[in-house]
Amino acid sequence: MTTWQKTDWRNKPRIQMPTYMDADQLQSVERRLAGYPPLVFAGEARRLKAHLAKVSRGEAFLLQGGDCAESFSEFSADGIRDTFKVMLQMAMVLTYGAKVPVIKVGRMAGQMAKPRSADTETQDGVELPSYRGDIINGFDFTSESRVPDPERMSQAYPQAAATLNLLRAFSTGGYADVHQVHQWTLGFTASDEASKYREIAVRISDTLDFMKAAGMTPERNHELQTVEFYTSHEALLLEYEEALCRLDSTSGKWLAGSGHMIWIGDRTRQPDGAHVEFCKGVQNPIGLKCGPSMTSGHLKSLMASLNPENEEGRLTLIARFGAGSVAEHLPRLIKAVEEEGAKVTWTCDAMHGNTIKSTSGYKTRPFDSVLREVREFFGVHNAEGTVPGGVHFEMTGKDVTECTGGVRAVTDEDLSSRYHTACDPRLNASQSLELAFLVAEELSDRREKLLLSQAV
Ligand code: PEP
Ligand code: CO
Repeated sequence: MTTWQKTDWRNKPRIQMPTYMDADQLQSVERRLAGYPPLVFAGEARRLKAHLAKVSRGEAFLLQGGDCAESFSEFSADGIRDTFKVMLQMAMVLTYGAKVPVIKVGRMAGQMAKPRSADTETQDGVELPSYRGDIINGFDFTSESRVPDPERMSQAYPQAAATLNLLRAFSTGGYADVHQVHQWTLGFTASDEASKYREIAVRISDTLDFMKAAGMTPERNHELQTVEFYTSHEALLLEYEEALCRLDSTSGKWLAGSGHMIWIGDRTRQPDGAHVEFCKGVQNPIGLKCGPSMTSGHLKSLMASLNPENEEGRLTLIARFGAGSVAEHLPRLIKAVEEEGAKVTWTCDAMHGNTIKSTSGYKTRPFDSVLREVREFFGVHNAEGTVPGGVHFEMTGKDVTECTGGVRAVTDEDLSSRYHTACDPRLNASQSLELAFLVAEELSDRREKLLLSQAV
């Protein structure tokens, strides 16, 4: 029996969280949310955990992706559909490369609170509190908009619920049919710029044709028409997380009802801090961002407190060091994991270590740096004999111009044309799919090498 309480985090040092002005208003919102149904169910979180256990053993591959920050103003059915659609395309291409199932986890339906490097932002000599995500305050640069408002949590909940509802409908309602997903991908490779990916696309077509000929049709095989799609977000705003936390009657364990997987950000992973305290007590799979400042000692103490029973699939370490820095940092963390005999799932966030300011002044991420970090991540795991379990991207299904590069090249000058993110720059649909092709090639090379080494 656990003695953990969902309010325990309140006794720990908290950072990156707002100070609400009106305590009564805050409490009334918390009470309202606490009475609402959870967004996800414990059985689903346990199922995802079992999938992530497979990822840790190399029997599945994790694709996690979505907005840096979901916003109230960009919330639309088309936006959700487009991101879902490109993730399915990526998953199919990755499945082809890895020859294992791809577990799909959106940064969706709750990814609305943001940690910030600076507490304030200055524009034209005016200094205001930083924007912290739509669930906390407003993006507009006015002092009214930047005041943290608890009522924003009441707007976030129905948005998350509606997002999840649509994702569930798309997942099972026929939209996810493999042949349809592949048709969309053929649309991408038909263009002149993407012609170098045509060969893989043709091989996937061949495989699907073979399956059809062998009787594996969507009409007869339910799995070919449906997908499992999970949600995740950073558990940053703990008042919201606590309000949606529920005791699961089947297991007697607590569940973060806000999403299937929650993660702890690189800025809020203090072993004695509020965020670790909250995540410790819920049974969901937990992600832990590991940036360059993560020491072996911190990682060991975090693994002990977040996964004391060394359960497979419980803890996903999300490496985010930046291209050119993976070889400097990842080996020491892999060593710490091995020394503890800890079971973890390794994945690579190839976005957060690669943010730069472009010559045009926009925050951007070069496509080549993102790809390079993934390759370095694979390289270190190959050398260490450990499993590179997956990739984590900030991406959207829309045709934005926020990251530079890719075959449909976005240049520094293009950034101003469709720069819509509420926070960090995202890969657009074409860049996301292109990355999937390139990562699939890496996965397929790795698999070939493994098979060859086993054959001798
Ligand atoms: C994020 O994932 O959006 C984020 C803020 O990441 P990190 O904590 O790794 O900086
Ligand atoms: Co981000």
